[in-house]
Amino acid sequence: MVIRTLEWVGGVDGLLELIDQRKLPGEFAKLQCRDVGQVYDAIKTLAVRGAPAVGVAGAYGFVIGLQRLPADAALEQGLASLHDSADHLGSSRPTAVNLFWALDRVKRCAEEFVVRNPNADVGGLREVVLDEAHAICREDEDMCRRIGQNGERFIKGGGGVLTHCNAGALATAGQGTALSVMFEAHKKSKRFRVYADETRPLLQGARLTAWELAQAGIDVTVICDNMAGVLMRQGKVDMVITGADRIAANGDTANKIGTYSLSVLAEHHGIPFYVAAPSSTFDLNIESGEQIPIEQRSADEVRFCGDKQTAPDGVDIYNPAFDVTPAGNITAIITERGVIERPGTEEVRAHLK
Ligand code: MRU
Repeated sequence: MVIRTLEWVGGVDGLLELIDQRKLPGEFAKLQCRDVGQVYDAIKTLAVRGAPAVGVAGAYGFVIGLQRLPADAALEQGLASLHDSADHLGSSRPTAVNLFWALDRVKRCAEEFVVRNPNADVGGLREVVLDEAHAICREDEDMCRRIGQNGERFIKGGGGVLTHCNAGALATAGQGTALSVMFEAHKKSKRFRVYADETRPLLQGARLTAWELAQAGIDVTVICDNMAGVLMRQGKVDMVITGADRIAANGDTANKIGTYSLSVLAEHHGIPFYVAAPSSTFDLNIESGEQIPIEQRSADEVRFCGDKQTAPDGVDIYNPAFDVTPAGNITAIITERGVIERPGTEEVRAHLK
């Protein structure tokens, strides 16, 4: 089954259709977004999630914003609408840079169109913005496949692979990043077992990664987050591979909370730790991971597990959604362009130039 996490349905008057990931694995439901507020809510509440997928959703959000204007409206109104949409969508989740990368790219493209075609109207602008959103979506699909092809050699047949959160098709417009590496290894008939951390508090590993891998016929075992160390000690884990939400110029990598602890455990046990991400996940404007904004989420995500309350009312809760793994703990970053071994500022710069 091909998983299409998000899809634009129709032409310029169309809508954004998403798999509602909040309901998986119990229910496979689609959500249709027809205004920018719905796209914002879908991102904020993790109906659509994962750094690249959020970027693509943001890009399509612009088209939805422009639909409120008549086709013959002036370009100034169109540009104002784009800026409003960018401000609103950009305030949904701060950590994954792909959202801001996609919003900036579409805005730049629209501004160039306006300079080149000062007499055009919003109808023309909509076409250009939709084309650019489609291009971002298609490129993401292609990048995912190439990440998988560049990384599959790191999976040794007969081994164990540990992953955290969900960096699969559900997190991108293609076949994922970390999971793409697994899908490509599986295509080559390699046999391996994936350990999927359940990834509290929102269980993306248990709900989404296990679901995707099981669909693909890949051997997957769900573990609680606190079991990773013992599995490593027992020699069951040959490599760790995760996705990324933002990679600083020096290779420091923000990803789902718990990734940093895994990198420390991997280092301690002499296990390679890989990050798989497209070049749109790099933020060369920041030197190190210390400058990456970390999203703080609602206390109730920790106070409750699903509908069940698991911590008392009134106690303090700490719920950062992401952490930063220092570049020094990363064996290699796998991108659509190739592999950055032992990433550092020079290595990242040389890879992306
Ligand atoms: O909060 P989420 O579910 O959006 O977090 C997602 C992750 O941390 C993924 O690992 C990351 O976005 C990479 S997705 C290819």
